[in-house]
Amino acid sequence: EKNGYDHFMLKEIYEQPEAIKDTYRGRLRINDGIIKMAGVEDNLEKFLNAKRIIIVACGTSWHAGLVAEYIFEELVRVPVEVEYASEFRYRNPIVGPGDVVIAISQSGETADTLAAIKLSKEKGAFVFGVCNVVGSTISRETHAGAYTHAGPEIGVASTKAFTTQITVLTLIALKLAKSTGKITNSEFHNYLAEMEVIPNKVEETLKSDEHVAAIADIYKDAGNCLYLGRGYNFPVALEGALKLKEISYIHAEGYPAAEMKHGPIALIDEQMPVIVIATKKGHYEKVVSNVQEIKSRKGKIIAVVTKGDKDVSALADHVIEVPETDELLTPLLTTIPLQLLSYHIAVMRGCNVDQPRNLAKSVTVE
Ligand code: M6R
Repeated sequence: EKNGYDHFMLKEIYEQPEAIKDTYRGRLRINDGIIKMAGVEDNLEKFLNAKRIIIVACGTSWHAGLVAEYIFEELVRVPVEVEYASEFRYRNPIVGPGDVVIAISQSGETADTLAAIKLSKEKGAFVFGVCNVVGSTISRETHAGAYTHAGPEIGVASTKAFTTQITVLTLIALKLAKSTGKITNSEFHNYLAEMEVIPNKVEETLKSDEHVAAIADIYKDAGNCLYLGRGYNFPVALEGALKLKEISYIHAEGYPAAEMKHGPIALIDEQMPVIVIATKKGHYEKVVSNVQEIKSRKGKIIAVVTKGDKDVSALADHVIEVPETDELLTPLLTTIPLQLLSYHIAVMRGCNVDQPRNLAKSVTVE
């Protein structure tokens, strides 16, 4: 059932073009110029009148929530807070009628996320679920929701769940932005058109696999690793670091690139691989200067850049290109090489990729 792949994780990484298509199938209707999502339409007033949106989740799903924060605030201009479900539930949170809580969970069984949902409901908030597993506890406990339709994710390291969560959340944001007139019809149409071709661009990005494996071979014995990104790609840096930690057991940290000079820069020497996401736009020039700072401290730079990039590529030790897309959709592409990098490093280190030590696929205890 691994379909010829060595591991479920690799199979699931490669399934992403199809999984994203499955996520938007029937929802993204370019010809009609609409996004169809019953769970959102049936509760449109609640979304449109929301004073703010609170996103609760854990792990990788929390990272998808962070990406969604950037997207919602940009497109819908509504304040968004992203909370670790475990922290939210235990600190007597200020939440109630008028708030929309979005709970994100691949399994739909995560204990802390479930508890955060119950608490939000008790306090009168409207709770919307983004789950992958159909009929899961969270999908039943929420008032409404949207499934990611990514298909079963077996590998403990979440991959296609992440990109499809981002896809669903982007569709919701676009739908709300359109309903409120926060974006023009032509902007809306451009986003839809770009979203529609994202699976092809993910497919193209997957072609970097061998190149990424060669980079993995160079850094597989690293003791530490730093991941940097800005804006939409800051959460991708966090996600890249989590992926490396959980399956290869290499210590890794993700940071917003500009935070580096407030501490982590002290870690940089010739032993330290730094993975920098430096796609075009997204404060590209600022990232270029961050890369220069790493270079002058002899850090090893692995840069994920937009195809045809020059400035960062001239400074980096290794360059991984992704196709050009709208800035807002770049996480769907930049995530791919980071998944592949941690996969190959873990395999080369002889780790159990699909079932890393100490971890379970769904964390049903708090
Ligand atoms: O099923 P969920 O999305 O609620 O799971 C949340 C986390 O436990 C999960 O994303 C975890 O961090 C993954 N192992 C990350 O790859």
